[in-house]
Amino acid sequence: MPSGYEIPILGYGVYQTPANIAAEVVEHAIKVGGYRHVDSAVAYRNEAPSSEGMKKSGIPREQLFFTTKIPPKDMSYENAKKHVQNSLRETGFDYIDLYLLHAPYGGKENRIGAWKALVEGVEAGVIRSIGVSNYGVYHLDELETYIKSTDEKEGQGKGGVLSVNQVELHPWLARKDIVDWCNERGVVLEAYCPIVRATKTNDPLLTSLAKKHNKTTSQILLRWSLQMVSISPYYLFPKSYDPQGFRAPP
Ligand SMILES: NC(=O)c1ccc[n+]([C@@H]2O[C@H](COP(=O)([O-])OP(=O)(O)OC[C@H]3O[C@@H](n4cnc5c(N)ncnc54)[C@H](OP(=O)(O)O)[C@@H]3O)[C@@H](O)[C@H]2O)c1
Repeated sequence: MPSGYEIPILGYGVYQTPANIAAEVVEHAIKVGGYRHVDSAVAYRNEAPSSEGMKKSGIPREQLFFTTKIPPKDMSYENAKKHVQNSLRETGFDYIDLYLLHAPYGGKENRIGAWKALVEGVEAGVIRSIGVSNYGVYHLDELETYIKSTDEKEGQGKGGVLSVNQVELHPWLARKDIVDWCNERGVVLEAYCPIVRATKTNDPLLTSLAKKHNKTTSQILLRWSLQMVSISPYYLFPKSYDPQGFRAPP
């Protein structure tokens, strides 16, 4: 990533994973599914059990990667500062690998304020990399302008380093404008909903490809995303909390 840290290509998403089963499924995803990266968020209300599952997996912390996000409704400097401290407390981790702004809500002042709080988290050594989520080109430009002007005034890196933009990306939502913006700057794209929430399993083209290659429709969609990795920094988060869903990676 632009921060200099590495990020595992496959992440395990825990959106809508109930807190009472999150520890168990995260442990299973790491041990059986081979995942090393867990994508949580304050809004998912499962930071604590997700981190518990990571610890229970027995895999050393430095080999695991944990993402969380500032909730859209709490986008401001003060709220973001509190959330960073709270995520550290909830997880018991010394550092968060990747902290994102979940969505560009709250108006410009609050978006920039929340970003500053993440930059301060990096400076304090409790966050390694920072980024955004659900940012289109308008909001990416806004953030880039702030980063550049702060770097010019206060010194290189003072505006923060944008490492990631996590957006919905799959063949039905390819977002070329966002993909191009990120690729031109080396910002890592993370693809969420890579299997389109299993809503396209009856799509005629997808089912014909699955039949032709003797794969499931989900495997075809994951392959589409994985092949994007070879042409751009592109990462994805399939999600399942059904243990049957943990098949060998396609
Ligand atoms: N930043 C954001 O705003 C944002 C928004 C949405 C998502 N995300 C991240 O991206 C992750 C993934 O997104 P998502 O969960 O919305 O969408 P997704 O991964 O495209 O789809 C998940 C759905 O597919 C089902 N599924 C999983 N494996 C399957 C398989 N092999 N065959 C058929 N169905 C299967 C799951 O059901 P079961 O669980 O019952 O298996 C679940 O209902 C989230 O968990 C979250 O970490 C981020």
